[in-house]
Amino acid sequence: MARFSTRAILAATRTPEVTQTPSAVPIYQSAAFSASDADELGAVLTGTQPGYAYSRIDNPTTAALGAAIADLEGAEAGLSFATGMAAIHAAILSTVKAGQTIVATQALYGTTRDLLVRVLGNLGIATVFVDPTDLAAVDAALAASGAPVLYVETISNPTIVVSDISALAAAAHRHSALLLVDNTFASPYACRPIEHGADLVMHSATKYLSGHADALAGVVVGRRELVDALRPILVDAGGALAPLAAYLVLRGLPTLSLRMERHSETATDLAAWLQGQDNVERVYYPGLPFDAGHAVARRQLDVFGGMLAFELRGGRDAGRAFLDAMRIAERTASLGAVRTITTHPPSTTHRQLDSAALAAAGIAPGLLRCSVGLEDVQDLREDFERGLDAARGAEGRPA
Ligand SMILES: Cc1ncc(COP(=O)(O)O)c(C=O)c1O
Repeated sequence: MARFSTRAILAATRTPEVTQTPSAVPIYQSAAFSASDADELGAVLTGTQPGYAYSRIDNPTTAALGAAIADLEGAEAGLSFATGMAAIHAAILSTVKAGQTIVATQALYGTTRDLLVRVLGNLGIATVFVDPTDLAAVDAALAASGAPVLYVETISNPTIVVSDISALAAAAHRHSALLLVDNTFASPYACRPIEHGADLVMHSATKYLSGHADALAGVVVGRRELVDALRPILVDAGGALAPLAAYLVLRGLPTLSLRMERHSETATDLAAWLQGQDNVERVYYPGLPFDAGHAVARRQLDVFGGMLAFELRGGRDAGRAFLDAMRIAERTASLGAVRTITTHPPSTTHRQLDSAALAAAGIAPGLLRCSVGLEDVQDLREDFERGLDAARGAEGRPA
């Protein structure tokens, strides 16, 4: 009989066999999976036999998440990553080589811009930024650069610009480029870019897919051969998703439709209400009839989503006062959660920029971005009323 330490290890790692199907995908919290013999391990590691060997390469829980999002997006295959940025990094690197150029939307999440400029720029990959709503400019940039990739966001962060995916896919394909779409703000409930011609779709699953602000995760979905090309980057760069985080995102998915309906309904209400307030200069929400993205949104989105932005009269001080007055909405940088989140980029994420630099980035000093949560709409209106009152009090101070 084996001795105590050996028995403890063997006893604790004896995995129960389960022939019935669990109601929830189990958390396979295991770094490795052992094979019955050397041949099986060799075959699994070299991919000639399906199975699991090491969780950086593949894990049943994280694989279940990739497959689930592929299903919701109408894609052939999906792969999960540790974060949205790891997913975006892998998607871009799988489609572009040193010496080539990417054409990307200028209405872009800041960290994705940093990835393109700071990280990929250093590797000899250049990026040309274009207005995604100016199709002639997109076409010209693709023609001039010979770019293999056009990169856009369905609804952009933070300025809520809606990209016309069908038109952009046609432009990309005319120039033999692939269209990569970050669908984080819309979620597959509101929009499935592959139906409109996109080639690869990325998500920060940290946001609406998880929905509860308790996990970091990312996913890429698309045609099988394109997703297969991502796996070496996942395996060699090591941005693998943790099984617990995959489980938490899977737990969010069954309520995605209910959450997105409620996020959209409340955001539509708040956007219309904000538009009527004396110290709100402009509201950006694709559900508003006069929004620049409304016509495309009506064609492309099933609901208008929970993200809105608005500009306050009174500049930076007014924006900061609004943010500080919030009692229900959280002051943080994320989005897509059950709780409403407001950010004032000029006094937080972009505080180092002076007025001229802010203007160049397309960000008004009084711009607030709001991820509308699932609270009662009346409570949110009262919170926003408190914010608007505080903003009125701060008006007139030097910017
Ligand atoms: C549109 C968009 N894409 C990607 C990301 C990055 O996601 P993650 O924080 O999961 O890496 C974010 C994060 O805020 C985002 O807003």
